Amino acid sequence: MESLQQKILTEGKVLSDSVIKVDAFLNHQVDPVFMQSVGEAFATRFAGAGITKILTLESSGITPAVMAGLSLNVPVIFARKRKSLTLHDNLYSADVYSYTKNESSQISISQDYIHHDDVVLVIDDILANGQAALGMIELIEQAGAALEGIGIVIEKGFQEGGNILRKRGIRVDSLATIASLENSQVTFQEEGPI
Ligand code: G4P
Ligand code: NA
Ligand code: NA
Repeated sequence: MESLQQKILTEGKVLSDSVIKVDAFLNHQVDPVFMQSVGEAFATRFAGAGITKILTLESSGITPAVMAGLSLNVPVIFARKRKSLTLHDNLYSADVYSYTKNESSQISISQDYIHHDDVVLVIDDILANGQAALGMIELIEQAGAALEGIGIVIEKGFQEGGNILRKRGIRVDSLATIASLENSQVTFQEEGPI
């Protein structure tokens, strides 16, 4: 997605050889008009797949997921990282290990919102090591629903998440894939055919 690459180049800040800050439009401040076009891009890619639900993980996945849900006209469920006052019973839960934070956390959704006849699209803002995506896949498996694919706004192609998921035969569609952040320079992987 050309406009996303431009956005990353102009508004992203390379913090190290492995981390890029995109707080200006994705992880803190949100650009709603731009994010609507991100949602439309996901909808175009997954049109005709019979998606009935979108699943993401709080917090930064919610914006692209809701925008995709708006375009595909399906409900969006965000898995929670903490049990809340109202979300504690009848849950599907999975452990997610974060290499970045070196800790495990549990993600959960209510059993009320994903069912065995659902066809689910997973959306997330950033794909790094893939642990969040694997956790969401586990929730979908617990529900007995079908996973159609994973839509990612920014894939860090130099980390292993994309490989882990694709090796499992899962369709992973990333709108922008960063090949390298070395020397404070963002290099993108060539876009495949959509
Ligand atoms: P993984 O799920 O792919 O294994 O990711 P990892 O544990 O490595 O990442 C943990 C958190 O750090 C995730 O956000 C992820 O989106 C974020 N992250 C990883 N690499 C980058 C990066 O280069 N830039 C930015 N901006 N974020 C990165 P989270 O903890 O789920 O937080 P939230 O933003 O959703 O609240
Ligand atoms: Na994040
Ligand atoms: Na995220």
